[in-house]
Amino acid sequence: MTRLVVVGSINMDLVTVAQRFPASGETLLGERFLSVHGGKGGNQAVAAARLGADVHMVGAVGDDGFAHALCDALVAEGVHSQHITRIRDCSSGTATITVAGGENQIIVVPGANARLSAAHVNQARPEIASADAILMQMEIPLETIEATLRIAQQERVPVILNPAPAQRLPSDWLKLARYVTPNQHELAVLLGADPSEDFRDLMRQAPCPVVLTRGAEGAWFREEEEPQLQRGFHVEAIDSTGAGDTFNAALAVFLHEGLSIAVRKACAAAALSVTRMGARGGMPHPAEVEALLARQRNE
Ligand code: RIB
Repeated sequence: MTRLVVVGSINMDLVTVAQRFPASGETLLGERFLSVHGGKGGNQAVAAARLGADVHMVGAVGDDGFAHALCDALVAEGVHSQHITRIRDCSSGTATITVAGGENQIIVVPGANARLSAAHVNQARPEIASADAILMQMEIPLETIEATLRIAQQERVPVILNPAPAQRLPSDWLKLARYVTPNQHELAVLLGADPSEDFRDLMRQAPCPVVLTRGAEGAWFREEEEPQLQRGFHVEAIDSTGAGDTFNAALAVFLHEGLSIAVRKACAAAALSVTRMGARGGMPHPAEVEALLARQRNE
């Protein structure tokens, strides 16, 4: 069983479904509202646990009404929660999400996620030391990201860094990651490059291996060799929220099978994730991933 530590955000997602996105200054009547558990860290932890990994979550929640529900939801999925810290006098992270035509727009208020510190990560050192990989995103403070990269280096544990939301990072931090997993826009921001530059050139310039997600097209990956494309799987998209999180979790879970197999399974898992509402609604179990792969082989 793959052992993972996820260092990242935990949010309550406040989701409004509408026919279309409103224009600036416009008020629209929506179709439906739901509050669901999210946050890139929490989502990746749940997706990895559903795919069969043993997962420890390092994160923070506030002392508001959302905190209990957010922790309980992770525990219900089998995620170990002893390194989830309760921050006093602080709200839990929230994401206000609009979904229209299968696409989304998101505003995140970090709340307690902004108080996840290097000391909190250090408390999880025993779990980190015995993990196969660390999965981390960027809805937590930059100092915590750097500290996690350095702790992982000391413990010789590979880090998969999902640089979302994107910020520029120093090249010596990126060299500490085993893989970075941006989309095209995030890769340009991460490297401080011109966003109109060809993403394959940016992949070649990156100081560490890149697995680049391209939505329905699939994912490009590169270690030593030239960038290669793994085509996406055709599904009917209901809600794309959490697709990137499912992709990253699957990549980490299946990496021991080799990079190209892991990317293929990650594309399949991400495709399945968009077929239901909510960030975690469509996150698949291994049998569903295998079924989609088999269906594609037979088509
Ligand atoms: O990646 C999707 C997630 O981004 C949502 O669940 C939301 O909480 C934001 O963090």
